[in-house]
Amino acid sequence: MANDSDPFSEKLRVPEALTFDDVLLRPKESRVEPDEADTTTRVSKSVQVNVPVLTAAMDTVTESDMAIAMARQGGLGVLHRNMDADQMAAEIERVKRADELIIRDVVTASPEQTVSEVDEMMDRSGVSGAPVVDDESGEVLGIISGTDIRPYLEVGESDAVTEAMTDEVVTAPEDVTPREALELMYDHKIERVPIVDDENRLVGLVTMKGVLQRREYDEAARDENGKLRVGAAVGPFEVDRAQTADDAGADILFIDCAHAHNANVIDSAREIKAEVGADVVVGNIGTREAAEAVVDFADGVKVGIGPGSICTTRVVTGSGMPQITAVAQVADVASQHDVPVIADGGIRYSGDAIKAIAAGADAVMLGSYFAGTDEAPGRVITMNGKKYKQYRGMGSVGAMNEGGGERYLKEEDENEEYVPEGVEAATPYKGSLASELHQLVGGMQSGMGYVGAETIPEFKERSEFVRVSAAGQQESHPHDVMITDEAPNYSPDN
Ligand code: XMP
Repeated sequence: MANDSDPFSEKLRVPEALTFDDVLLRPKESRVEPDEADTTTRVSKSVQVNVPVLTAAMDTVTESDMAIAMARQGGLGVLHRNMDADQMAAEIERVKRADELIIRDVVTASPEQTVSEVDEMMDRSGVSGAPVVDDESGEVLGIISGTDIRPYLEVGESDAVTEAMTDEVVTAPEDVTPREALELMYDHKIERVPIVDDENRLVGLVTMKGVLQRREYDEAARDENGKLRVGAAVGPFEVDRAQTADDAGADILFIDCAHAHNANVIDSAREIKAEVGADVVVGNIGTREAAEAVVDFADGVKVGIGPGSICTTRVVTGSGMPQITAVAQVADVASQHDVPVIADGGIRYSGDAIKAIAAGADAVMLGSYFAGTDEAPGRVITMNGKKYKQYRGMGSVGAMNEGGGERYLKEEDENEEYVPEGVEAATPYKGSLASELHQLVGGMQSGMGYVGAETIPEFKERSEFVRVSAAGQQESHPHDVMITDEAPNYSPDN
């Protein structure tokens, strides 16, 4: 109880909350080499990935190109919701089709066509071969390739394609594995295998190029059918969008809300969870009590109230929670219920990402780190001779004007001036996602090495923080020198 001699009010006896720069990982004895550190983790109850990184659901970060690239590299892209539900479904389907072993949308030839017609058709469609399919029954009659018909040596241009095709076709059933398909192709010295049903009707095509491309991405995040994984953001009250995204095949729906610790949001998120087959991750939250309110139904929780690089939530609303404390508080509760935790926002360096995991996160979500890559939406702009890409908060005026930012919109704002909680910015152009992600994950693995942990669960268990003074923070960054060459994983401007 405060008395007259106490200079403080009770109101000012407040706990301290910490963020990335306030802490460092205490180095420990180790036998783990960084490249041995296994970064496999869960981002939701039923989705496991090899790389514990997600790209933010923002209209300057994640559309299908980013989601495809992320899943191929082993992480997960979360599609933004500044598009209508049908567009979102098309984006989800595009990701799901990207690395499909069996191509469903096959360019086929009809036995009625002539050699030159088929040649032209293959040219137009950019394919070098096509199954010849009976127009009525859909049965595979043969297969034709560019080498069968060009340069019309043994067949005339106006001959029927049936004269030129190979009619002893090697086919495979729908449940063929990549290895079986490859063996078939090697054994018969062919480059494509039509996939047929029991009646020899065409259902798809497997190509050598497709199988080899999948092999290249051996760390890729894939669903049980071998398709790339993808997440989709849905507003807390968008039950229809949630159903559409679920039907289109999204693996995880992310309830996209600036402050999910709200009874209406939680009721509606619960309703969405009951309606869909996909996992549902609820966010954003930043306290122990918020975690307690959702862990009974959420398949994952996402943490971050105002840490983001383009966020102004904390200065506009005076509310927020420094990110290391927020993650640790939520993880205290979520880990008791086996609910994965995603730390969202504020990560500038790989060191921040691994500190978030040490605080209790299972995976991290980043926006600004990836907004400058080729795979992010938007074009490269040049200012004063330097290349940039646009990056803006989903609660910025620009994003809200284009229909997004509902996450930050008050109902009466529809006809009034917005009260934004984000800014519009530009971020340095960075080249390919693969190389940025390589730097990020490589740094995280080194962090695991310093603590002597071989896996993410072991790292969470073993890691300990030390508190860093202002002088210690200064010492952490390059000092007393002038940087002469850019490092691929450090910029003093971050
Ligand atoms: P970083 O730091 O990685 O943060 O760029 C990305 C995360 O920031 C959140 N976000 C916002 N937060 N106002 C906010 O307060 C905004 O306009 C805004 N837009 C995005 C979001 O959680 C994202 O993943």
